[in-house]
Amino acid sequence: MTAIGRARAHTNIALIKYWGKRDKALFLPMNSSLSLTLDAFYTDTQVIFDEALTEDQFVLNGQNQTDSEVIKISQFLDLFRRAFKETRRAQVLSYNFVPTAAGLASSASAFAALAMAVNQALGLGLDRETLSTYARRGSGSSTRSLFGGFVEWDMGTTSENSVAQPVDDADWDVGMIVIAINTSKKTVSSRIGMDHTVSTSPFYEAWKESAKHDLVAIKEAILARDFQTVGQITEHNGMKMHATTLSANPPFTYFEPETLRVQNLVRQIREVTGLSAYMTMDAGPNVKVLCRASEMERLVAELAKDFPNDKIITSLPGQAAYCLTEEEWRESERRFYDD
Ligand code: ADP
Ligand code: DP6
Repeated sequence: MTAIGRARAHTNIALIKYWGKRDKALFLPMNSSLSLTLDAFYTDTQVIFDEALTEDQFVLNGQNQTDSEVIKISQFLDLFRRAFKETRRAQVLSYNFVPTAAGLASSASAFAALAMAVNQALGLGLDRETLSTYARRGSGSSTRSLFGGFVEWDMGTTSENSVAQPVDDADWDVGMIVIAINTSKKTVSSRIGMDHTVSTSPFYEAWKESAKHDLVAIKEAILARDFQTVGQITEHNGMKMHATTLSANPPFTYFEPETLRVQNLVRQIREVTGLSAYMTMDAGPNVKVLCRASEMERLVAELAKDFPNDKIITSLPGQAAYCLTEEEWRESERRFYDD
């Protein structure tokens, strides 16, 4: 007997960052966070639970994955197998329409898509919030990719209530530009980077306190549709997160020389043109610019004066994760190989 599920989830970029775990096994964060889901980047995943399989299989972007990658997937599937008394092994096929492990949040869309596909395959009927608690245990940022628009991940007090919730559907002239400085696999994963920061940065307590206030303020600004304030809080929060890596011991940074150059470029464009553009960076060198959807074209034109056009990707807010039909899945496979 086999059971099949297929789903798509979009990546999300945090405006208030998740940076540190209070419980590493359960992926309980030190602080609540808030993100924008992006329509330009996503993961499509199919899972087949099959009695005939003797072990789990994981094929990503058409390539069989290493043992350690398969183990990660197996441990994730075990969460469902244990909770719902499922004994079958599974084959997971997945396509990332986003660079993998490059600080563009492939792990966020990945585990949200997989959680949703498992839910469908096994007919579990779990709601999105509950699925977000499962996705969280694959990768923290994935918690937020079950929903579209602006999404909060409430740090919660237990594993069951550390969940994502939609805040606003972001359909009010909001966009994001990704400036892809380097999309090769990063050397310090977010997991290692945040762990090292929590245990060694003397600024960490200040980060936690500050993120708490930023979250309250940004939610107010989002609900008031006050774009400037949302942007200013976003930019400040991202820089504060990166300040904790610089103050870790030994110190490290995800910034590359080009990251600093692009940051200056964004500031300069903002000052000279008056366009709304606020930057944020994750565990990688790439710069994401929160902007007005209506100003995106002009901003890209400004950026392209000083940066290769083909490395500037625009995105509107993305929708919540959803199940794919067999036809949509086949279409997605075709598109992956055509691109
Ligand atoms: P990113 O910035 O891309 O999220 P991370 O290092 O945080 O980088 O996460 C990348 C890891 O996420 C990969 O090494 C892999 O273990 C996992 N991952 C990425 N894409 C998928 C996928 N489609 N399905 C399952 N796991 C995935
Ligand atoms: C800087 O979710 O990739 O992008 O939970 O260990 O898998 P794990 O980490 P991950 O970390 C994301 C860190 C961040 C900020 C954010 O997305 O909130």
